[in-house]
Amino acid sequence: METDFLVIGSGIAGLTFTLKALPYGNVSIITKKESTEANTNYAQGGIAAVFSARDSLELHIRDTLQTGGGLSKEEPVRIMVEEGPGLVTELSKLGTEFNNKDGKFELGMEAGHSERRIVHAKDATGKEVENTLVETVKARGADLFENYLAIDLILKDSYCIGAWCLDVEKENIFPFFSKTTLIASGGVGEIYLHTTNPSIATGDGIAMAYRAGARIANLEFVQFHPTSFYGKKIGSRTLLLSEAIRGEGGLLKTQDGQTFMKKYDPRAELAPRDIVARAIDNELKERGEDYVLLDVTHLSANLIKDKFPNVYEVCLSLGVDPLKEAIPVVPTAHYECGGILTDINGQTDINGLYAAGETTYVGVHGANRLASNSLLESIVFAKRAALSAVKTLKNIQYPALDYAVETKRAQPLQENIISDYRLKLKKIMWNCVGIVRSNKKLKEAKTKVLQYKKKIEKLYNTHFPTLPLVELRNMLTCASLIIECALWRKESRGLHFNIDYPKRDDLHYKKDTIIKIKEDL
Ligand code: FAD
Ligand code: SIN
Repeated sequence: METDFLVIGSGIAGLTFTLKALPYGNVSIITKKESTEANTNYAQGGIAAVFSARDSLELHIRDTLQTGGGLSKEEPVRIMVEEGPGLVTELSKLGTEFNNKDGKFELGMEAGHSERRIVHAKDATGKEVENTLVETVKARGADLFENYLAIDLILKDSYCIGAWCLDVEKENIFPFFSKTTLIASGGVGEIYLHTTNPSIATGDGIAMAYRAGARIANLEFVQFHPTSFYGKKIGSRTLLLSEAIRGEGGLLKTQDGQTFMKKYDPRAELAPRDIVARAIDNELKERGEDYVLLDVTHLSANLIKDKFPNVYEVCLSLGVDPLKEAIPVVPTAHYECGGILTDINGQTDINGLYAAGETTYVGVHGANRLASNSLLESIVFAKRAALSAVKTLKNIQYPALDYAVETKRAQPLQENIISDYRLKLKKIMWNCVGIVRSNKKLKEAKTKVLQYKKKIEKLYNTHFPTLPLVELRNMLTCASLIIECALWRKESRGLHFNIDYPKRDDLHYKKDTIIKIKEDL
């Protein structure tokens, strides 16, 4: 198959790129499950952007830089904050039904923001945006291939000319050639035992780009969202309790009803996520308890039902009525701040290869991401990537390629072997590479992950690359890279906290962690 623009992933980044590239050529989106199965679809709080007269671009820039723990770069942050509001308005014009009053967006409040600036569609912003974008790009002529998995990138003379793909239903492997390729495959939450992410978040794009020789940055900065429902899951993911709930006055309490956040930060419940997640972790460890409480029983029932209808309904279905009792919550893996290194136009180290969205590191989030800046970053840099990619389109003579005959004939690996390793990996990452880290635990994780990786790589080379096997291989690669980055950073900063180096060390570590392909990883 051939196309002008090959887009890997149908979340907000892939779809925004598509929208902007469509006037210039044929766009093919491949996505490994159904089109809307993406982290985007589950986003709750909203998109941070400056619309209020009380607010200013400078304030949003300042909040983002402050939250980033010294590693966010002013240039991409400024671009994001300045170009964001126009794109949010565009989304609204395409039909996204954001909450508004008298023609103005109704703005929510979230932690780390000094003003109300969260544009939202009740508490299901992601779903509303995702559906609008999918419908729009389909109507405008994009080719959307569901159940197509990108396995690896194809390079010719150091130029990316597409990706090897698996048609998951037909079990057919083929090269999908393209003049330009965009990786928009999202994050890595699925490598942790407990995560707010759906199971697609296996870091495929990061692993593919790494294998192809692109630089990867800052993977140690895995963000744990402070509040997700404790005890029951929805499929493999936990229910997120949006930060906007604390923005409206929700309180964190220990099981005996005491508030505790003021002990940790004067901003209390509205301190940035790294601080709140570590505070909860500390309370749980000190008290030997399994969860804390998010209490909204003092807020009006109308406010909860009106602003958080989905969260309210799902809590009821999980057996807790938030109007009558406090919700049991714990921090869980939520967002990868690092990723494939790109410039401010989405260009990776490899010609012909662009990347956008959660899979990237463009310099915005630094050591910690400000709430609701991810959807914003995705739309801004996906748009910029498209506008840059259209300028570099060139005709390419595609080589005749055939997937190795042995691989085509090979049998799939037994599913239970794959799922056993997947679970073992998720447990190791949860226990050893979580909110609070230590040298001992990181080294223990490294030994185990590299051992599994070696074993799976061997099996990968002799078995048919099914979706679960490809995902496991990528999860192991991402896990080994996260651990490597975490071991390199001998300090504590933002989301990376190591008890052996509890202080921030600007002299030696006020820089990004850059990693490139290595034999032993
Ligand atoms: P995704 O939306 O994850 O899309 C990735 C796509 O790539 C999917 O379609 C996936 O199937 C596909 N894919 C992956 N690998 C392959 C492959 N190998 N081949 C083919 N296709 C592939 N951020 C905010 O700013 N505000 C919020 O309110 C907010 N709330 C959140 C709530 C939850 C519960 C979660 C999980 C995240 C939230 N985030 C929020 C973060 C934000 O949703 C994500 O960072 C953002 O949506 C990422 O968009 P993306 O397009 O980069 O990736
Ligand atoms: C939330 O609603 O708390 C999630 C916001 C985000 O991840 O930015």
